[in-house]
Amino acid sequence: MPAMGRIFVTRALPFAALDRLAAEHELDVWEGDLPPGPDALRERLATADGLLSLVTDPVDADLIAACPDLKAIANMAVGTDNIDLEAAAERGIPVGNTPDVLTDATADLAFALLLALARRIPEGAAQVRDGRWRTWEPAAGLGADLAGATLGIVGRGRIGDAVSRRAEGFGMEVLASSRRSGVPLDELLERADFVSLHCPLTPATRHLIGHDALRRMKPSARLVNTARGGVVDQAALREALIAGEIAGAALDVTDPEPLPADDPLLEAPNLLVVPHVGSATVRTRARMAEMAVENLLAALAGRPMPYAV
Ligand code: DGY
Repeated sequence: MPAMGRIFVTRALPFAALDRLAAEHELDVWEGDLPPGPDALRERLATADGLLSLVTDPVDADLIAACPDLKAIANMAVGTDNIDLEAAAERGIPVGNTPDVLTDATADLAFALLLALARRIPEGAAQVRDGRWRTWEPAAGLGADLAGATLGIVGRGRIGDAVSRRAEGFGMEVLASSRRSGVPLDELLERADFVSLHCPLTPATRHLIGHDALRRMKPSARLVNTARGGVVDQAALREALIAGEIAGAALDVTDPEPLPADDPLLEAPNLLVVPHVGSATVRTRARMAEMAVENLLAALAGRPMPYAV
């Protein structure tokens, strides 16, 4: 079968799904371990018909305008805040994402972070590794109970609901808040022992958790973010952790990503940061790649994307 189009894939993806794409199209796969920079992205996309992008690839209006042949964008992520959806829509370029399939993996990670904070797992692990484990101590390493505690879920989409189901299994009381429903955010922040963020990053949610929000939280409360780094004002979070305004925070997402090792946030106590691994399970990532491929195959064949944004 003759190649139907040229597709730029912004990173080597070790998933079988790509073979299906290669069977029908000419693939141009970015060879670096790190994402292409803006110039390389522009150069390689300039003559492409399709783009398989990751959350690390900013696809803005300028880039879209510089790619006259571009007919389809498949983001291998559920979030699409790296793509200017309006600019794509104006050009009639469909954009696809990978919803549902990463819901459980991300909810699991949110819960793993919550448990790690509640039971002070990073501190305990460091204590053993550093040879500071002296004996069984009656009042050392004490954490917080989950049973009977209140979990505040910000964002009532699929992942927020999946976290809520897990919390019920742990005997927690769940409060949920979104822009349109649930308890008001201020009330959630004031009542929750743990706050877990599950809203998309939009102009309305950028720095939703800033000084004000953090001051509303209990000094014993802990914050988990597996949504997007920009939802939290990191300077405010740093201050809140240093001042003891909240008891801890665990972040899978930061702003920027990667967070430089010398970022002032990392000086804050009771902070755990992991490198954006919410969807990072073997099965989930393979399925995300399949969905991105299915989106491109459909759009380049003139059919609607099965997972269109
Ligand atoms: C997403 O899908 O939006 C995640 O952040 C990356 O898996």
